[in-house]
Amino acid sequence: MENTEKKVMFSGIQPSGDLHLGNYLGAIRNWVALSDEYTCYYCIVDEHSITVRQNPAELRKRSTVQLAQYIACGLDPQKNTLFIQSHVHEHAELGWILNCYTMFGELSRMTQFKDKSAKNAENINGGLFTYPALMAADILLYNAHYVPVGADQKQHVELARDVAVRFNNIYGDTFVVPEPYIPKVGARIMSLSNPSSKMSKSDPAGCVFLMDSPDEISRKFKRAVTDSDTEHCVRYAPDEKPGVANLMGIYSSVTGKTFEEIETEFDGKGYGVFKPAVGDAVIEKLRPIREEAERMINDKEYLKGIYTEGAQRAEYVARKTLRKVTKRIGFVEKPF
Ligand code: TYM
Repeated sequence: MENTEKKVMFSGIQPSGDLHLGNYLGAIRNWVALSDEYTCYYCIVDEHSITVRQNPAELRKRSTVQLAQYIACGLDPQKNTLFIQSHVHEHAELGWILNCYTMFGELSRMTQFKDKSAKNAENINGGLFTYPALMAADILLYNAHYVPVGADQKQHVELARDVAVRFNNIYGDTFVVPEPYIPKVGARIMSLSNPSSKMSKSDPAGCVFLMDSPDEISRKFKRAVTDSDTEHCVRYAPDEKPGVANLMGIYSSVTGKTFEEIETEFDGKGYGVFKPAVGDAVIEKLRPIREEAERMINDKEYLKGIYTEGAQRAEYVARKTLRKVTKRIGFVEKPF
């Protein structure tokens, strides 16, 4: 059960597409590394994913596949609370409450809202706009100290901090004020086909999925955009050579080698040797994850057991926080 001396981690990923290398290197890898040191809650945030229209059958399937992938990446369900957001109704309830403590101006500044509303001009719904208040609820329900995420989520975690501080200032200490926990390397993996935009499922050619076959991964890396310079050498210069810098970041993340070591390793070898080598390193890193996930995906009863127990553990904590909040804001105590 919960070890009260340990600090708490919370994070989540939307089941809106297949997990990719950006999710793994920016977030999940850190989750695994931190499992022993912290009390960890890792969620499949299905309520967030419906801010963009989803196919119901696919959403249902992806949510459990994502759980299998979390475990295959190394998250031990005994050490980590793994659950599905919609199974713990406190998220939606605290989300509503926190909406009333989050300012229109703050939400309007969120870059993800601006990006997503530009991409989904026909469906700019209220949920897309107020999404950061639900994300704040996710984090604050568990008194999380740290939120391990990629760089693109930093702004949302900072908003959660601001909301927590605002609430605490009005009602007294209620929430732990969380901090983003962002990896030094791998926090922003860029598309292999366009190194000026982040790797995302909406650009499959530039995106390596955790379930891609070795052949697919190899092909994607061989085609990766490097740079149009004539130098053709592997040198870390993110402004001049963003494609090479991105590949170096990926290689460094999966092998643990520093940029200097990588420069030395590929000195005089050119991109024709470098790109397949990065592909091979990624293939070897992802191979056991894919094989383990494939094995587990069909074991529906096992996965059901994990997400049931996860939701029960999560709800125990979430309920206590929500009770405290509703009492402080003046709701009549629920008599049953
Ligand atoms: P989402 O589902 O877009 O992404 C999940 C995680 O993957 C990271 N990530 C990346 N990291 C590096 N390079 C990339 N190209 C890349 N693409 C994605 C993201 O930073 C994130 O850590 N709002 C969140 C989900 C969420 C959440 C939460 C996170 C909901 N509630 C509470 C933490 C705590 C999101 O849309 O992430």
